[in-house]
Amino acid sequence: MVLDKDLAQPGAGKTYFVLNYGCQMNESDAEHYAGQLEDLGYAKAADFHDADVIVVNTCCVRESAEKRILGKIGELKRVKENHPGQIICVAGCMAQKDGEKLIKKHPQIDLLLGTAHVNSFKEILADFIADKGGRVYDDMAIPDSEFEGNRVRQSGFSAWIPIMYGCNNFCTYCIVPYVRGRERSRSIENIVEEVEQAVAKGYKEFTLLGQNVNSYGKDFGEKGMFAKLLRRVNEVPGVERIRYMTSHPRDMGEDVIRAVAECEHVCENFHIPFQAGSSRILKLMNRGYTREQYLELVEMIRRYVPDAAITTDIIVGFPGETEEDFEETLSLVKEVGFDAAYTFIYSKRSGTPAAKMDGQVPLDVKKARLNRLMEAQNVNSLARNKEMVGKTYEVLAEGPSQNNAGVWCGRTRTNKLVLWPTEGREFTAGQKVNVKICAAQTWLVKGQAE
Ligand code: SAH
Ligand code: SF4
Ligand code: F3S
Repeated sequence: MVLDKDLAQPGAGKTYFVLNYGCQMNESDAEHYAGQLEDLGYAKAADFHDADVIVVNTCCVRESAEKRILGKIGELKRVKENHPGQIICVAGCMAQKDGEKLIKKHPQIDLLLGTAHVNSFKEILADFIADKGGRVYDDMAIPDSEFEGNRVRQSGFSAWIPIMYGCNNFCTYCIVPYVRGRERSRSIENIVEEVEQAVAKGYKEFTLLGQNVNSYGKDFGEKGMFAKLLRRVNEVPGVERIRYMTSHPRDMGEDVIRAVAECEHVCENFHIPFQAGSSRILKLMNRGYTREQYLELVEMIRRYVPDAAITTDIIVGFPGETEEDFEETLSLVKEVGFDAAYTFIYSKRSGTPAAKMDGQVPLDVKKARLNRLMEAQNVNSLARNKEMVGKTYEVLAEGPSQNNAGVWCGRTRTNKLVLWPTEGREFTAGQKVNVKICAAQTWLVKGQAE
């Protein structure tokens, strides 16, 4: 596909809006869609209703996400009726999963873009406008992952940096490997170049993204590449904070933990989803580690990085999960004392092995387990936050608090949300502020700027 000269700016004088759902990888992709739309001449609309092009960037990791998105796509039918000529693109994981079916059911969709076509959106849209292209792009042709193109970042100081795409793990509950394809890593040079360009624009914090960052570079046939990458990004002048997600407990090695301990700019926050506390369920999930191995990993992290915050993801109600299995999840949560946990009710994803497993757990049982789990974790979160009271932390300022006038918020290196009163002082987003913590709640801490 080659851009027609007179079509190089089909968006001149027109507007776009990207409605984004799902994980950080989708947020990163949404920035690429916005970048390409601006390349075509479109400007961001203040409200999606009025936009000439609407991109719905979708997620299908759980049924609840899909329901919300389908509701929005339904709403867009009416929006489009009031806005003739509006172009509706549905992109991302759900587009990949459902393909043509989606467009047949919802004819208001003009363009359907699977996950392998993020980088060619510009050409696809220009072809569509010129009546030269198709409407459905859901093949899994491996894109040139080295090409990143223009990007309109949401934040002015914190940047997403994808380091790899896809997933090879096939956890039995998860749809991601089917909709994101196999693992492909970007070269270190390419990643460092993007970091350097963002530093030049004033970015301070960098989050390296992948479904399993610990297997970064395995497709190059090399081991230990993720630790090397952390050390390399740590050396880029102007980088102040480095984060990464997500880690897989099976692949997280001592080399990575040592890199975190030794690199000045790599934050002391380990997000290591354990998913279930029972080794029997972990095996059914195809996670590749046992409860004991997970606890050994936590012990190693605490040994190298005693002040680390450890966070996790947990699923309740995986098929066959008994009360005893669930209690092992509860006891693991209490034993580790996580700083925070993202807890999910198992959602059946058709096409995954777990969807066909015996012993699907009734919804009321799943809900009751989720509540018990959240209660246990809230106790941990509050206890961990209380340990911060009386100490001073380096906070990267984000902006004024949405709910409290005269209050700013930001995050510690351990990724704790901190609020402090401005007391007439000026702060800027991306500025480092030392805050002495004076009060702790479950989800945040409060303090005074020094
Ligand atoms: N690659 C990352 C993120 C995957 S999606 C990882 O492996 O951690 C984020 C979280 O969603 C997962 O950690 C898991 O806890 C949850 N999840 C994935 N599939 C799910 C399903 N079918 N039902 C409920 N939760 C699910
Ligand atoms: Fe899904 Fe497992 Fe891959 Fe994470 S590691 S994206 S949970 S298959
Ligand atoms: Fe959702 Fe796709 Fe991310 S399914 S969680 S947007 S990889």
